Amino acid sequence: MTYSLAAKTSATGSPRTRFSTPSKPRLRPNPRYRQRLRAVVLGAGTVNGGVLDKIGVLSERIEIAAIVTRKSRQGHDPRQAWLTDINAAFDTGPDVVIEALPDCALAERALKLAASRGCHIISANKAVLARCPQLAGEAERHGGSLRYSAAVAGGIPVLETLTDLRKRGEVIAGVRGVLNGTSNYVLDQIERGAEREAAVKAAQRAGFAEADPSADIDGLDAAAKLVLIARKAFDLELDVDTIGRIPLSALHPGQAKAASGNRLRYRQCAELSRRNGRIKGRVDLQALANTDELTKARNEENIVVITCESGLRVQLHGKGAGRVPTADAMLTDIRDLIACEIGA
Ligand SMILES: NC(=O)c1ccc[n+]([C@@H]2O[C@H](COP(=O)([O-])OP(=O)(O)OC[C@H]3O[C@@H](n4cnc5c(N)ncnc54)[C@H](OP(=O)(O)O)[C@@H]3O)[C@@H](O)[C@H]2O)c1
Repeated sequence: MTYSLAAKTSATGSPRTRFSTPSKPRLRPNPRYRQRLRAVVLGAGTVNGGVLDKIGVLSERIEIAAIVTRKSRQGHDPRQAWLTDINAAFDTGPDVVIEALPDCALAERALKLAASRGCHIISANKAVLARCPQLAGEAERHGGSLRYSAAVAGGIPVLETLTDLRKRGEVIAGVRGVLNGTSNYVLDQIERGAEREAAVKAAQRAGFAEADPSADIDGLDAAAKLVLIARKAFDLELDVDTIGRIPLSALHPGQAKAASGNRLRYRQCAELSRRNGRIKGRVDLQALANTDELTKARNEENIVVITCESGLRVQLHGKGAGRVPTADAMLTDIRDLIACEIGA
């Protein structure tokens, strides 16, 4: 049996709000009970810029104590405390840290500091989350928590679906998908005759690709997502460096266009599968028959197929990157946290 969820973001709400099950609210009163959570926002680019656009609707439940960016925004919006110093932001005593910084030492340091202070963490930073498996335990030991729905496949609830399936008693057999919106967008553009560099620049202008798109192009971004998926699907800790990768640069000019003439379509395929009794991860560049379900992902879309040992197959398809779907996933985590800490 195949269950299919096309997770297009709509004006009426993110698919996550309709599909994911929020964690159970605390039964005991929270010792840190407050009417409003105090938040520090780290980064205000594509992802957190989208969060800041919409978080006002939750202003009775969450207040922004500080926003940290690299370049100073002093005078930008006098109603907000814009900082460039993360330590000064932590001095405001946040309950929650909403992090969407690039993969960098500062982001790792900030998340470790947040965990050690018992802050609740909401992060989109799959690279740091993948190489710091101890963060969730560290946060929980100090009374905090870690949520990261936005880190995998932006607008489609891959991690939540894996959790739900396992709660229902399903055993995950494998996961296969297109997990990187930028590379998918670039491959589609190349198929239409664009040069790779021009296609990457177009993805950056559209907000899918980061300032440094190398992790998207060389498969590292998809590999980090596989690490997070393996954690949820198999309780398994994979080392991102052991995941084999074929970069987009391996594709010769004209190859993608020629493939399309043969009813083939290149896709960056990320896969977790069992080989010799062990789960292995791989990020490949494959010419797939245009009847293959992964070729349904167009432009920045992602598609993920989860196979269970019972034979159940779940297909998730939707916007995998960009400001709105990723920010909506962050906001779903924020709402879930508010429900757990304060109540609806
Ligand atoms: N874009 C997506 O579609 C997407 C989807 C899922 C997950 N993610 C993840 O989300 C994270 C953020 O992505 P993004 O696309 O929002 O990136 P972005 O647009 O480049 O924004 C990054 C933000 O971080 C700030 N920043 C960078 N270095 C800093 C430093 N040293 N100190 C303080 N602030 C610093 C930047 O400040 P300035 O504004 O001053 O430069 C900017 O506001 C990444 O980890 C990415 O992998 C992105």
